[in-house]
Amino acid sequence: MLNIVVCVSGGGTNLQAIIDGIQNGAITNTRIQAVISNNPGAYALERAKAHGVEGVCISPKQYPDREAFNEAFLERLNRYRPDLIVLAGFLVVLPKAMTQQYKNRIINIHPSLIPSFCGTGYYGLKVHEGALARGVKVTGATVHFVDEGTDTGPIILQHPVMVEPGDTPKSLQQRVMEQAEWKILPQAIDLIANGKVAVEDGKAVLL
Ligand code: GAR
Repeated sequence: MLNIVVCVSGGGTNLQAIIDGIQNGAITNTRIQAVISNNPGAYALERAKAHGVEGVCISPKQYPDREAFNEAFLERLNRYRPDLIVLAGFLVVLPKAMTQQYKNRIINIHPSLIPSFCGTGYYGLKVHEGALARGVKVTGATVHFVDEGTDTGPIILQHPVMVEPGDTPKSLQQRVMEQAEWKILPQAIDLIANGKVAVEDGKAVLL
């Protein structure tokens, strides 16, 4: 059984896709131990509660500085002894101690085809604004392992999505979620839960 902790900051539609995937059998061999949010108002916490999953908020505002927050966050996470940490719309830069301790055991969903429109400053709607400003015709989503960099870790799965005439950042965001994110994030978890992903020479390979 793969024990996972899901980290969220906002609406939690990707968390919902994981909960649904576990319920409908798209994700096997997996249990959500807890959902941790940095934002007390995150609707994702309501989704956790509605499904009987423990929801916890650890906000930077509760701590005197970033270091204290990072320590408290990692300490809380460690209590669950998770096999895998899933960043599902978690808009916090992870402390180095965490990426080192959980090397190849943290995954993130990013709403573009990495290496396009990723890295510092590219999160949420900003990613889609960037894609539309550049005029790309195809975008998509990526699930990757998290390393010390921003969106630089080994790529596990990607899925393309067409940009359509008249798209706005919001319409594109919605299509990327529906057609790509809500599919590849559950799929990646299922692959990992069943021992089908390895990292070799810094690249993820599907076994
Ligand atoms: C998703 O589109 C996710 O890919 C993005 O935030 C959104 C969260 O939505 N993540 C990033 O931009 C990370 N760099 P959700 O809360 O409804 O799952």
